[in-house]
Amino acid sequence: MEELEQLEVKLLLEAVYQLTSYDFREYSSASITRRIQNRKMIEQFSSITMLTNAIIHDEQMRKQLMDDFTIHVTEMFRDPSFFKCLREFILPQFTNLPSIKIWHAGCSTGEEVFSMAILLHELGMLDRATIFATDINEKILHKATIARFPLHKMQMYTRNYLASGGTNSFSDYYDTDDSFAYIKPALLQRIHFAQHNLVTDQSFNEFHIIFCRNVLIYFNPALQTKVHQLFFDSLQNGGFLALGNKETMTFSAKSHRFLNDYAHEHIFQKNV
Ligand SMILES: C[S@@+](CC[C@H](N)C(=O)[O-])C[C@H]1O[C@@H](n2cnc3c(N)ncnc32)[C@H](O)[C@@H]1O
Repeated sequence: MEELEQLEVKLLLEAVYQLTSYDFREYSSASITRRIQNRKMIEQFSSITMLTNAIIHDEQMRKQLMDDFTIHVTEMFRDPSFFKCLREFILPQFTNLPSIKIWHAGCSTGEEVFSMAILLHELGMLDRATIFATDINEKILHKATIARFPLHKMQMYTRNYLASGGTNSFSDYYDTDDSFAYIKPALLQRIHFAQHNLVTDQSFNEFHIIFCRNVLIYFNPALQTKVHQLFFDSLQNGGFLALGNKETMTFSAKSHRFLNDYAHEHIFQKNV
C-alpha cells in the first residue's frame, strides 16, 4: 500500500514538473506527501491518482497545489536572538564598506526583509544596501510588495523587535489604518522583489549576506546540498549564510568551506 502511494506521489510530482516546470520531486517526501494527502481529502478524491488527473486537466488545481507545497509562515524579527546576533556581531563587520549586497531567498510575504531593512536603517547602513528578496511563488511575492500586515500582528512583532535588541519605538516604522499596518516607504526603497526558484535557477550575483531561513527544511538532503552549492557560489569570500533554526550546514558536502563561529544562530561564514 505504502509503495503504491509512493508511486502515485512520484507520478503526481512528475506531472506537475512536466506541466509547470516547477520541480518538487526532491522536496522532503514526508512533508510533500502530507500536503498531497491533505489536498486529496479537501477535494474528496478517493486516490492520489484522481488528484493527478485533476492537476493535468485543471490549471486552477495546479495553482492550488503550488500554494499547498510552498509554506509561507513567517513573522517580523522571527527568532529575536538571531536578529540580535546580526545586529551585534554580523552587520558591524560590514559598516565600513561602501555598499552591502543582501539576498533573502524564500522571502515569503516579506516580514524577514522588512526586519532587515529596519536593522540596516538603525545601523546607518540602509542607504548603502541593495537587498534582493526572492521567492518561487509569484502570488506571495505580490503580497510582499504591498508590505501590509493585519494590525493585530504588530503586537507580536513589537515584542520580537524589542527582544532582538531594538530600542526605538517600533510603531515609527509603519503607518496604520483601522485594519492594517503599512511598512513606511523609506524602508522599502532598497528592496527589489523578484521570482527565483532555488531548485532550477542559477546564481545571479555575489552577496555579503544570504538569508535562506525555513526553506531548506522542506527539501531532501540531496537537494539541500545542491542549494548549499548555489549559495556558496553566490557569496563573497567571508560572506554569511543565514539559515533557519532547524537548518544547518554541518552534514553538507560544503560544510568544510564554512566557519561555524555563529552556528548557534545558524549563521555560517564562507571560508576560502
Ligand atoms: C516558511 S517560508 C520562510 C519565510 C522566511 N524566510 C522566514 O523564515 O520567515 C518558506 C518560503 O520558501 C518559499 N520556497 C519554497 N520553495 C522554494 C524554491 N524552490 N525557491 C524559492 N523559494 C521557495 C515558499 O514559497 C515560502 O514563501
